[in-house]
Amino acid sequence: MNASTNATLPSEPRGLPVLGHLYPLAREPLEYMLHLSRTQGDLIRLTLRGKPSYVLNHPALVEKVLVTDARKFHREGNDTLRQVLGQGLLTSEGDFWRRQRQAVQPAFHHERIARYCAFFVDSTREYLLESSDGEFRDIHLDMQRLTLRNAARVLFDIGITQDMEAVTAALETIMARFDHHWFGMLPAWLLHPIERQYRKANTTLDRIVRRHIHDRKQSGVHGEDLLSMLMQARTEDGSSMSEQQVRDEILTLLMAGHETTASTLTFTWYLLSQHPEAEARVHDELDSVLGSRLPTLADLPQLPYLNQVLQEVLRMYPPGFALLERFPDEDVTLAGCRVPRGSEIQIWPLLQHRDPRFWVEPDRFLPERWTEKGAQQRPRFAFYPFGGGQRLCIGARFAQLEMALMVATIAQNYRLAAPPGERALRLHASITLRPKSKVALRFVARSPSASRTGLQHSVS
Ligand code: HEM
Repeated sequence: MNASTNATLPSEPRGLPVLGHLYPLAREPLEYMLHLSRTQGDLIRLTLRGKPSYVLNHPALVEKVLVTDARKFHREGNDTLRQVLGQGLLTSEGDFWRRQRQAVQPAFHHERIARYCAFFVDSTREYLLESSDGEFRDIHLDMQRLTLRNAARVLFDIGITQDMEAVTAALETIMARFDHHWFGMLPAWLLHPIERQYRKANTTLDRIVRRHIHDRKQSGVHGEDLLSMLMQARTEDGSSMSEQQVRDEILTLLMAGHETTASTLTFTWYLLSQHPEAEARVHDELDSVLGSRLPTLADLPQLPYLNQVLQEVLRMYPPGFALLERFPDEDVTLAGCRVPRGSEIQIWPLLQHRDPRFWVEPDRFLPERWTEKGAQQRPRFAFYPFGGGQRLCIGARFAQLEMALMVATIAQNYRLAAPPGERALRLHASITLRPKSKVALRFVARSPSASRTGLQHSVS
């Protein structure tokens, strides 16, 4: 590692004349950044829209910014994120953020998440009952709907089936808005229709969430769910959380909690469809541990290979491929270079996850690598799909359990096969990493008698 012994100037690749780095970043951000990380030093300086931006290209630097020197940096979140999510956990800072995180945290305690697990299996089982052998399904859409329904139900005790179409369409429109924001390359007049749709989508989400808040208020019934907890929470001066704040936290958790998980699941199905040996090992493990019984939380430690597959998917395609930018509140030294206060710091987990200094054949899907000798000796921030430090993803364990149980329930019953000749997964680097186009996979019943028995058994 040469993070601390580097020269005093960060490496600065040459961009294209006039366009600089914006054009390759807008066209192929992942490929371009991976190319830079493999050809430049530990700290990369890019000039973007006339301003310097620093990309961390070594796990030790990531640890310094997220953990060791975290108090010297703040995170802002972009304008679109703040417009949609207001002052939710992702977009707030300082004491306000700390108080909100404390208010939300109980919903993510281990014993609470353990209680959600039965619902994750149940809702996946219901989904399977709607699916049939030989059917092609739009897997990403299915995974989005399932994870959205799961988060709404277990966190807020909200059923959103009747609003599903409206909510998923609104979220898609908002995701599209993030794309246009990303590099700020389009003129305002071209963005006009997109802006209109975006405002409409924002209003739709707002209306639906506020309706649920009002319904709960009117019912006067308060359960143990997070919606009740937020509505009843009191600040130090005894005042309650405003309706706006409750709305911001609900939308933040629904948005952060379903899109990333859905993408990871889609990537998992795709990668398994392309790697029959890994798929067969997952099936063997499920058959020997579960037989035709549905999975439970207690089964997960007996399914280590399934866990390795999910880790490997998160390594190769981290949905949070780039964290929200950090900004130093004072001049700092990174990799021996002075980085002035207020500079933009970019942290891309994808770069460390694919760094050949820490991973053999980093671009290959190899779930076995997680048990190889030396796997434990990698630096902490060679793999951090959920971020790190105090802003670590609040839903990390929630997501890991939900994904493992959903994959176990589906893979017990079906293989998801890609159409013949369909190989490449095209990725879209929006605010999260997601598939660029529809991922159509065919449901193939594994063993009709055994698998359907498992499903019917639990329905009765
Ligand atoms: C595979 C699934 C997931 C991935 C890869 C993921 C990734 C991340 C990452 C990388 C961050 C840190 C962002 C940064 O530091 O800039 C983050 C933060 C966050 N995530 Fe997740 N996440 C996932 C699932 C979830 C779920 C299920 C929830 C909630 C139900 C959730 C809620 C949040 C929230 C609220 C934050 C902000 C935390 C704070 O700043 O206090 N995430 N997530």
